[in-house]
Amino acid sequence: MRHLMSPLDFSVKELDTLFNLASDIEKHPDKYAHVCDGKKLATCFYEPSTRTRLSFEAAMLNLGGSVLGFSEASSSSAAKGESVSDTIRVISCYADICAIRHPKEGAPMVAASKSLIPVINAGDGGHQHPTQTLTDLLTIRSLHGNLNGFTIGLCGDLKFGRTVHSLIRALLRYNNIHFVFISPEELRIPDYIIDELNEQNATYEEVIKLDDVIGKLDILYMTRVQRERFFNEEDYVRLKDFYILTKEKMDMAKKSCIVLHPLPRVNEISVEVDDDPRACYFKQAQYGVYVRMALIMTLLGLEVKNNA
Ligand code: NCD
Repeated sequence: MRHLMSPLDFSVKELDTLFNLASDIEKHPDKYAHVCDGKKLATCFYEPSTRTRLSFEAAMLNLGGSVLGFSEASSSSAAKGESVSDTIRVISCYADICAIRHPKEGAPMVAASKSLIPVINAGDGGHQHPTQTLTDLLTIRSLHGNLNGFTIGLCGDLKFGRTVHSLIRALLRYNNIHFVFISPEELRIPDYIIDELNEQNATYEEVIKLDDVIGKLDILYMTRVQRERFFNEEDYVRLKDFYILTKEKMDMAKKSCIVLHPLPRVNEISVEVDDDPRACYFKQAQYGVYVRMALIMTLLGLEVKNNA
């Protein structure tokens, strides 16, 4: 039985197969409409979410399966003091696969160790968010053409943003990628990630001003300041509007630069940018459904029976 805890749980070759499947799903959705007939996905969300939970549910429904679960800890037995381990043992009796999001780093790993069904980490605290990374990689592969040879700017809350942490790890396995980290001093990328970049001889730079680097980026990955992980509100208020991507700033970007964002957006991308053809964050959300469909099929070991 296989779980997905980190983006590195799949080899580059396995990811390629997964992305090929996701692209085929995009082209021929009807072929996959009954692959999960009779299967159930449980979504156990101990932390708020719109996209991740609903895209998992949409993915399972698109495959012909059904869904059950809870969307906040207060409506589950966690409110009565039940442990994640016990909850997952019980859910193993009700569902075939489970996606879990938890505010505590490592909680999905604990669940996986006790589970009788495949568990997917749908985000654990400020740690990892592997299915967002699969979404990001599929989006880059589809829109940029491949996963090698580009300059990517990651901008915003690089300290607490788990999507950024997962994405960097995953991209380190591809070639000729130059990382540009754009953040205020207080929200710099954590040292353990810098260590990983150094160990792998990756090329990177850290800057504070987006204007200084926007012109050289092939991909600009914006992120929101993670209010819920701040220790005090004053710091959040001071930093929340540090970056706002506007039309004027987009004028300085390459014609081919694509703008991504895991969403939700707060203020960091002005809504006027949405009409720019380089703004790809809503397309990215659509890719999230295809890649989760491919992931559910892969972890359940399911294939389309009739390839005709
Ligand atoms: C991200 C998350 O939950 O980490 N959202 C998402 O899953 N698309 C990003 C965020 O909340 O800022």
